[in-house]
Parts: sequence; C-alpha cells; structure tokens
Amino acid sequence: MDVRQGARGSGTGKSATPRRAERRENSAPPDDHVIVVFGATGDLARRELLPGLFHLAKAGLLPARYRIIGSGRSTLTDDEFRRRAKEAVTQFGRAEPTGPAWREFANSLSFASAQPTQPQPLLDAVAAAEQALGGHPRRLYHLAVSPGGFEPTIGMLGGTGLASNARVIVEKPFGTDLASARALNDTIHATFDESQVFRIDHFLGKESVDNILALRFANGLFEPIWNREHISYVQIDVPETIGIEGRAGFFEQTGTFQDMIVTHLFQVLGFVAMEPPTSLAAKPLRDEKTKVFEAMPPLDPTRVVRGQHRGYRHEPGVDAGSQTEAFLAARVEVDNWRWSGVPFYLRSGKRLGQKRQVVTLGFNEPPLRMFALDRDAPNATPSNQLVIDFDDPGWIAAHFLAKEPGATTRLGEATMTFRYADSFGTRHALAGYERLILDAMLGDQSLFTRADGIERLWQVSAPLLDDPPPVQPYTPGSWGPDASHRLVSPHHWYLPDTQSDPP
Ligand code: BG6
Repeated sequence: MDVRQGARGSGTGKSATPRRAERRENSAPPDDHVIVVFGATGDLARRELLPGLFHLAKAGLLPARYRIIGSGRSTLTDDEFRRRAKEAVTQFGRAEPTGPAWREFANSLSFASAQPTQPQPLLDAVAAAEQALGGHPRRLYHLAVSPGGFEPTIGMLGGTGLASNARVIVEKPFGTDLASARALNDTIHATFDESQVFRIDHFLGKESVDNILALRFANGLFEPIWNREHISYVQIDVPETIGIEGRAGFFEQTGTFQDMIVTHLFQVLGFVAMEPPTSLAAKPLRDEKTKVFEAMPPLDPTRVVRGQHRGYRHEPGVDAGSQTEAFLAARVEVDNWRWSGVPFYLRSGKRLGQKRQVVTLGFNEPPLRMFALDRDAPNATPSNQLVIDFDDPGWIAAHFLAKEPGATTRLGEATMTFRYADSFGTRHALAGYERLILDAMLGDQSLFTRADGIERLWQVSAPLLDDPPPVQPYTPGSWGPDASHRLVSPHHWYLPDTQSDPP
C-alpha cells in the first residue's frame, strides 16, 4: 500500500500553536559572496563541491553576484582550474556543464595558490573578486583540506584580515579525540566567533535525514510511540559496497569509527533520539541534539566489533600490518527518560553486501500472541518495524502483520511505504553538500554541528579510542564479522532486505 501526498486538512484533532523562528521559510537568495574553496584540487572538491556549486548556480540558488576562488598548494591558472571544474562537473555533477549557465559559472571561477606562509596570491585574488563584485560581499571559506591543514589555514585567515565579514565551513574529521577537538575549537575561536563557524556533516544535509524531524515533529502519529515504552531497539545502518577508493592516506588515519560513526551516524542518532525542540531554529535544535550526546554513556569497547575486509591490507598505501577498521558495529545507549534500556545499534563498513543508509525502529511485541504465524518461515520479511531509508531519494516503510484473507486467522507480513520519488519527484532537489553550502551562505547553522556537541562525542568515544578491540577479518560482499551479528542478539540487523526500493 502506498501513502501518497495529497491535499489534506489537519484532521479532526486539536491544531498546534504555530512557533516562531522556523527554518527556511523565506527563500531570499544569499547575500553576494566570494567563496574560497581550500583544497580545490582535491577529491572532495572534485566529487562534491564544484559539481554542487554549479548545481546551485544552475538552480538559481547562488547569490545574484558571486565569485568562486579555488585554492590549494598547486599553482594553476584560472583556465586550468576551469577545465578541471568542468571535468569534475561532467563526471560527478547532476547538471551538464554546457550553455550560458556553465559559461557564467566558469567566468566566476579563478584559482589562487595559498600557503599559510605565502598568502599574497590569495589576498590578491580575494581583492580582485571583491572589486569585480562591488559593494561588500560576504566571504565564505570552505576548508576541504586534510585535518592537518585546518589550523594553519585558519591562522592565515586571521593573520591577514581575510577572516572579517566571513564564515568558515570546516570539514570532518573535527579532531581525532577530545584534546585535539578542543585545541581545534580554541584555534578557530581565536579567529572566528562561533556564529561564523559551520562544521559540516553532509549527512545532516540529506533531505531524508531532515525528514526524520518532520516525521517526528510534524505528525501526531509517530511521536507518542517514539520512546522506550514502545520501541525495543534502534538501528542506524550505513553499509557501503565501495572500498577506500585510493583514499588510504586519509582512511588509514581515521578508520570507519572516525570517518563514519563519530561523525555521520552519531549525528543521525541525535536526530532520531532528540526531544522535541521548542522550534527548529539553530539554537534549540542543536541544544536538543547535544543533550542526546550528553545522555550517552561512554562507549563500552566490549560492545564494539571492529572488522577489516580481506584484501584491505593490499590496497595501495595501506600498511601490511594495518589495524585500521574498515567496519565497525557498536551498541550504544542514550540514558535518559525516553530511551533508557533501549539499545542503539550502529553499523558501517566498506565492501559490504549493499550500499544503504537505513534507520530501523523495532517495536515491542504485543503481550499476547493470539494468531498463528510461522515466524521461522524462510524469507519472512520483518514485521513490527518502522524503516527509514535515507539514501537519496529515500523511503519510509512500516512493516506490520495483517490477517491473510481466508477462513483462517493466519497472519501475513504487510508493508506500508512512502517513497519520496513517488510523492515529491524523482530525486531530491539538492544533495547534502549543496543544501549545507546554501545554508552556510544564508547563515543558518541548524544543520551544522556545534563545538560542545562534538567535544561530548569525543568524550563518549574515549574508552574505545584508548582500548580498541582487535580487528576481525570479513569477506568482501558479506555483512561483516560474525561477532557483529551476536552483538545485536536477541535482535537482528534489519539489512540485508530484498530491495532498496520496496513495492
Ligand atoms: C564520507 C566518508 O564522509 O561519506 C566516506 O568519508 C563515505 O568514506 C561517504 O563513503 C558516504 O557518504 P554518501 O555521500 O555516500 O552518503
């Protein structure tokens, strides 16, 4: 059964009191901007940022007047950078780099090499861009550099005056432990006020992740049962089929815990577990997310399974004795009135059986079994679960039991599904990065992580970082080490399911 969008009233229930300070109700374009992408010749810029900026331009969402300066250690001419940008958009973009839209975008591009000790080319490029735009455009810096580059780049921005009238987007990983995250926050705050800082986690820019808030707080249907009285476990599962794709230099330093769990999966957990905020404005929303992290007890390493797929150590750049995990599953808790006793199972890994991004809420079984159901039937689909697939375009399914037609009282598994693509169009208008870059230009910090939240997550992670369990091998294409299945006992991982786009 499909749940489709339609014109509906608010039902017969009591109407809600409207709140102030809702997010993004006004669609005014951002102020004029000079955008500087540090790390502009790197992988992230090629795969996400340049294609995303062009898509924003084509969608008419960039400011009326803007310039984009690529920066990095290499020395490129403006034309060389434009050529690279065009290749990146061709390979990874949603919009073809052709026609007047591309020409206008390409004309906005320039390149300036920048070393923390030699900032002059960048200073000149920013001055030229500002002069070309006229007025007082805002400056937006995107630090798409390796973590070691954050502090010197921020120091350079502060030391040269480039930090004034500016906002800064800081990539992950934000530190590698509590001490380094605190040191990085101190460095940033020496130059930028917290209101200028946008710590990016592109999962929070995904429409279907934001929709978790809508599902919970725009409907009277789900929130009353969204708690320990009704939910017996929560899973946040992000398996990937890709490997490290030549990123050994980065991944060997981070592993799945720092690359995926302490960043993306914990942030999604924050949205799933938070209390209703007083409004969707940045402060109340981030306050509630931080309270979830505060309620998480420190991770217990005996409830963590680290895995490494066979072949990982043969990837170029990987140490032959590497202990870096390409897979991690953990059982965590949120020790508050809403969730006490409910396990949150988190899992992510490279080279697993499916590429998926799924939140599953498992509901309590009813106290009495009155119906016959062969629960051990092979291929029985799971019931009594709400499943949120947040990979673009995403869907939400409620699996439940229904009476099979006929003269018996046998039950069959049934599913009610909402699919974004059916109700709202084929794919989401904006990818995670696009949405967040736009929000940063608009100065909306709601979907960005805050210093206190990040520091708390490192605090929670400390026991695991200090005493990580050994990595266990797993076969590529599988679902990780066997121990990760025992970890969720008596429950089961929802994945693998039969399809990513259920009927
Ligand atoms: C990135 C990680 O942040 O997220 C990658 O560094 C991972 O290792 C990626 O593959 C997954 O994100 P996406 O865009 O596929 O949802």
